[in-house]
Amino acid sequence: MSTSSQGERSLVLIKPDAVRRGLVGEIISRFERKGLGIDALELRTIDGEFADQHYAEHVEKPFYPPLKDFMTGGPLVALVVSGDQVIEVVRGLVGATDGRRAVAGTIRGDLSLSNRENLVHASDSVDSAKREIGLWFPELG
Ligand code: TYD
Ligand code: MG
Repeated sequence: MSTSSQGERSLVLIKPDAVRRGLVGEIISRFERKGLGIDALELRTIDGEFADQHYAEHVEKPFYPPLKDFMTGGPLVALVVSGDQVIEVVRGLVGATDGRRAVAGTIRGDLSLSNRENLVHASDSVDSAKREIGLWFPELG
């Protein structure tokens, strides 16, 4: 699936907690209403090896083992979104990592009460977006 691709791209994951809770539409709709394009969209279940690649920067951290179980524990929705300054824009829409501290009005601030099950992943820089899109959607090049 593809809508208008423009500007920068970001890799977004709607995590297994969001799928389980029936929040996929709510979350995608926030990106759509902001005016972002959707360049790719797919339901996937990942294994541990893939989780290690996605979270390469975190594999040695103490919080990683339960995070890995969570991310591999059910289907998630992977998407590539695009638009002007989309990396920063999406991080703003998603909110702070810890749902208990995320500001109201953000996805995590409105819908998550957890520092782990926080509904969404979003690339944090142009370099990580390139790496993550290459991992999840190599066909997008
Ligand atoms: P991080 O990259 O720091 O956060 P973000 O998703 O906002 O970029 O961490 C990656 C994920 O790891 C985070 O979304 C949830 C999980 N996590 C924990 O489970 N415990 C923690 O203490 C931290 C910092 C993150
Ligand atoms: Mg991160």
